[in-house]
This record gives sequence, structure tokens and C-alpha cells, in this order.
Amino acid sequence: MTPRPGSLCSQTARRKLLAMFLALVLGTSIVLYAYPGAGGPATYAAYLYTRPRPTESRRKKPLPQHQQQQQQPPRTEPRRASVETPAGSRPGTQSSAVAASVAGPARSGEDAEPESEIPAGERRCLPQAIIIGVKKGGTRALLEFLRLHPDVRAAGSEPHFFDRNYQRGYDWYRSLMPPSLKGQLTMEKTPSYFVTREAPARIRAMADGNTKLLVVVRDPVTRAISDYTQTQSKRLGLPAFEELSFRNVSAGIVETHWNALRIGLYAEHLQRWLHYFSRKQFLFVSGERLVTDPATEVAHAQHFLGLRPLISEENFSFNTTKGFPCFKKAESQGQLHCLGKSKGRQHPNIKPEALSRLREFFQPFNRKFYQMVGHDFGWD
Ligand code: A3P
Repeated sequence: MTPRPGSLCSQTARRKLLAMFLALVLGTSIVLYAYPGAGGPATYAAYLYTRPRPTESRRKKPLPQHQQQQQQPPRTEPRRASVETPAGSRPGTQSSAVAASVAGPARSGEDAEPESEIPAGERRCLPQAIIIGVKKGGTRALLEFLRLHPDVRAAGSEPHFFDRNYQRGYDWYRSLMPPSLKGQLTMEKTPSYFVTREAPARIRAMADGNTKLLVVVRDPVTRAISDYTQTQSKRLGLPAFEELSFRNVSAGIVETHWNALRIGLYAEHLQRWLHYFSRKQFLFVSGERLVTDPATEVAHAQHFLGLRPLISEENFSFNTTKGFPCFKKAESQGQLHCLGKSKGRQHPNIKPEALSRLREFFQPFNRKFYQMVGHDFGWD
């Protein structure tokens, strides 16, 4: 069954209280109207006072314990969201930075808290903007940079709603979003959406095609090596990159079924999205420039998202130890935050002939992609 989004945002706590109050008033009025002889609050109060009380014998006997258990509502499924370590999260709270699955709602950063603890005037909304890809493009960096903006509220973990968790429904998805005020923008990132066949139609259905989509793209060969390096960090004895890349090494026949390479066929994946979204719904962010000039890439993203231009050069500083830009959060008095250890890994050396064959292979796909998006990313 296809879940329906209902309204984008949950009600604020204040509105919920008002709704409950109105329901109570309405309910009482109906009782007063329906009860014979009801003449107003005084009569009703008198009725409540004088009405016959149930005797002990007429009261319901408590059920035996095993039957009580049967009458409990079924427990809802534990909530799961894939977790990466966002910058600044406490060390040791999440062991693995990549796609680990933990019980409970997303836990890192500003994640789901019980409804009762949502501050007054705030509510949770379905995302109006999603970073849909690409895996290892620099998606965590972009999300963390955008989170510096006071009008951005983003789920810290990857919800994987439109690929793995769709059947859990929109209430589940909304519960993973942080509380937000009116005027704030809710976001999430799940890079696998970009290559998930069902994702475009599903995301379109959420807000009638009005969701803003951000895609961080990176040279598909470097991206594949980054992807491989990540897998290698979790799996001992993985064959060499060159072995996995070619069906026939000497003939240079590329193994297009290998996911690490398939993800880099951006033009093919984008084609599917364009059946459901117009080009203007997308922003393509250069993964390379996100490292060399983060402020400019973030400025484009702010503009695309309709945000005030508040994030600037001053928020970034290149950290020579990490070899990447790190950033300053407004609330942490100039302290620099860098992404976790799983971002910016050392890549293995790949044989030059394998690299040049892969570059040759991707060239026509890259060219087609540049044409589709109207921008040359300079990978060739
Ligand atoms: P590598 O680890 O291969 O260098 P994603 O967040 O989509 O998984 O992408 C991870 C990649 O983000 C990293 O790949 C790294 O190159 C890139 N990146 C971009 N900006 C970064 C930053 N400020 N700090 C660390 N990594 C960054």
C-alpha cells in the first residue's frame, strides 16, 4: 500500500491543546444536548452528582493478567535510521560512520525527541528539501554546512525512507525530523535515493513535485575509489579495485554491474528523475568545489533553497591536518568542527592504466550529464 503524506507538518503543541479543548467543549455540548432533561451546566453537574453509582458487583472485574496483555495495542516497530557521525557528535556515541543501523529514532545531532518535549510553537515537518545523492560525493559535508544556517533544521541521520523504509509511513518519517518553527526549512540526506528506481515517483508524491532536490556530484572515478575505500575499511580481503573494475582487465572491459561504477553513470540515473521533476527542482553541487571553495558552493545552495545568505567564507577554515575545510558553528564561539574520520579517508593507489581506461569509459556519460544539467564539471 502506498503511504499518504497527509499534511506536511504535525500540529504545534499549542494547537494540539486547543484542538483537545475544542473537542472537549464539543463533546460536553453533545452530551448535554442528548441527555434527557439536560438544561445546562448546572443540571449536568447535578446529574453527575446524583446519578446512581455502579455498585462493586456491577463494576467490571479486572481481567486476569494474561488477558490484559492480549488487550494491549500492538507495540509499534522500533524505529531505525541509518547513522553517520555528523560533525561535532560526541566520540564513541556512534561507532561506525557509514550506514550502521541503530534501534530507535535517529539519534545523532538534533534528532527525534518525544512529542511532549517539542518546544512550544514548534512542530515536525516532512522535508521540503532533500540531498538525494550521490554516495561519497560530499553529501555529509553539504548537509553539515547548511546546518550552520539558523533557518535550516535537518535530520542528523539518513532516514532511508524512500528506499528501505517506505512502508513505515509518513508519520514515522516525520518523527525523524527535528522540531522546527514556521519559516524554517526541514531537510534530510539519503544519498542512495539518487540510484533507487522507486525514489523519484515516491518523492514526487510527497509534495506534488515541489520538493527541492540537491545532488552532490563528484568525478565518477574518484567517487568509485572513495566508495571502494569505504567498503575496504569494513571488509577484510576485498579484491583489488582494478580487479573489481574490469570484467576483462587485459581487454579493458569495464564491469558496469559493479555498484561502485554504476552509481557514477549520473546521466542514466538523472534521466529517470526527469520523468518526475523539472530541471529547476534540482541543484547540482560540485563535490570538488565543496572542498576547494565551500563558501561559494554553499552560497548557491542557500540561494536555491531561498535562504538568507548568512553562511559565508567566515564560517570555513581549511584544516591542514585533516586536509579538508572545517567549519564554525555560531553557538560554539569560533571553535572549528571537522567531519569525522570516515570523511576524507586515504585512498589506495590505483594503477594509472586502469584509471585512464575508467576515465575513457565515463567520458561520454559525463558529457551527456553536463548537457542535461547545463554545466561542465570538468572531470574529463
Ligand atoms: P573521501 O573519504 O573518499 O575523501 P559522503 O559524505 O557523501 O559520504 O562523501 C564523503 C566525501 O566527502 C569524502 O570522501 C570527502 O572527499 C568529501 N568531503 C567534502 N568535503 C569534506 C570535508 N569538509 N571534510 C571531509 N570530507 C569532505
